[in-house]
Amino acid sequence: MAAQKHLICRSVEVVEAGDGVRFNVPGDDLHGGAAFVVRYGGRLHAYLNRCAHVPVELDWMPGKFFDLTGHLLVCAVHGAHYDPRNGRCVMGPCKGGALRALSVVEEHGAVYLVTEGGG
Ligand code: FES
Repeated sequence: MAAQKHLICRSVEVVEAGDGVRFNVPGDDLHGGAAFVVRYGGRLHAYLNRCAHVPVELDWMPGKFFDLTGHLLVCAVHGAHYDPRNGRCVMGPCKGGALRALSVVEEHGAVYLVTEGGG
C-alpha cells in the first residue's frame, strides 16, 4: 500500500525540547486518535498521546509533554517518564512499557504524519 502524508504543522512550531504539537491520527481506536510530535536532539519524534500505564493523554496542559529537565516526556497523571527518542518508559508505574511511535517527516518547512494505505 502506498504511504500517505498528512500535514501536521509548520516545522517552526515544533521547537527543540519545547511544547509538543498535538494532532489527530486517522483510524480506529487502536491505531488512531490523539497524538503529538516533539523535537528532541534535533529530530522529530511522534507518538499516540496515550500513556502506557492507563490509556489517557499525557499532557495536563495542551502541549506540555517535557518534564522540567527538558530530557524526558512525562505523564501528568501518575508521573511516568518516557525517553523522547524511542518512547520507552524509563521511570514510573509502566516502566518497561512504551508509547506507540508514529512516523513523521519534515519537508519544505512542514511536518507530516506518514501512514500506510487508506488512512
Ligand atoms: S496514566 Fe500515565 S502514569 Fe498513570
